[in-house]
Amino acid sequence: MEPVQEGVANLVNHCAEVQQGEKVLLINEGGEADTDLVELIAQAVRNAGGHEQVMWLDRPERGGGPGAAPPISDELATAIRSADKVISLYPLGDRALVQTLGDNPSVLVANTMFRTKEDFASNHARYHWGMANAIYERFEKELFAEGRRVRLANPAGTDISGVIGSFSERARQLDEYRVPFSRSFNSPAYIPVATTRCEGQAVIEYTNGFRREPIDHPPTIIIENNIMTRVEGPSEAKRWVDEYAKNLDERAERLNRPDANKVDSWHGGLHPTAECVGGPRGLIGNANTDMAHFHVGPEGEHMAAQWGRLILELDGETVIENGVYHPDFDDPKLRETAQRFGLRHWK
Ligand SMILES: [Fe+2]
Repeated sequence: MEPVQEGVANLVNHCAEVQQGEKVLLINEGGEADTDLVELIAQAVRNAGGHEQVMWLDRPERGGGPGAAPPISDELATAIRSADKVISLYPLGDRALVQTLGDNPSVLVANTMFRTKEDFASNHARYHWGMANAIYERFEKELFAEGRRVRLANPAGTDISGVIGSFSERARQLDEYRVPFSRSFNSPAYIPVATTRCEGQAVIEYTNGFRREPIDHPPTIIIENNIMTRVEGPSEAKRWVDEYAKNLDERAERLNRPDANKVDSWHGGLHPTAECVGGPRGLIGNANTDMAHFHVGPEGEHMAAQWGRLILELDGETVIENGVYHPDFDDPKLRETAQRFGLRHWK
């Protein structure tokens, strides 16, 4: 099987879980989704015993951030309601889906940000979706447990120690976008993990959010008592030190409360093989274990502050080192799940 077909089969069989006799609606973004790729997906649906209906929609206007998606037209809503499964290479927002279909429709929607054959031939797309999903669930629901000690670091000098807290405002906001009948084929960043008692420093290597533009002379954010208190750096980093200091000052002034710059949460990716994608399609790279970033203040705001080659320790055990799972990290539940999926190993 060609790599692109492996990725497509993973989408159809492991994420959408297309079964014999099911009606499968393929929604595609005109001008973005590759027509040959859509034919491969249709073929894979037929191979699984499904019946496909292919729909092309105009490319919607971009903007508004990750949660934003265009409204769902009546025609599209009717098509979705009449399907058993939807595979969408088009931005379908969970919130818009709920508004249109209610909380508990009988359809399963598999979304993906992938649009090209190259995307589907990637390590990210070819890694068993069910396993990737199990890894996220294991960490989000069990391993990132309140009260565990955490260390976030990297070779550039980031070194933060803290304790996992009970409430992340950023997670609460994101939760509004998650619905049980919708799955994302490309893995996301994990649910933001609340922090308390963070101490240390974060060396900011990338700016501009998920676009991840490298900073030539990284500034260092100092964290004391779970609050970002100041920004430091050598003289050549002055531009960036000033910019990040301004960011903290402005938030402190705008919110006018002592916890204006508290560390709300952090997150990164958990997908064992996903490539680190930057640039305009950098949201896809959120799956990668290399990167992490913070959310700040009582409103859980994003801070354009990422660092790579992540080291993540939980209660002193190294989970991720230099941006990849540590060879000695061995989770019995994940090992068991991998066996159930017929995989020799999961990382
Ligand atoms: Fe984030």
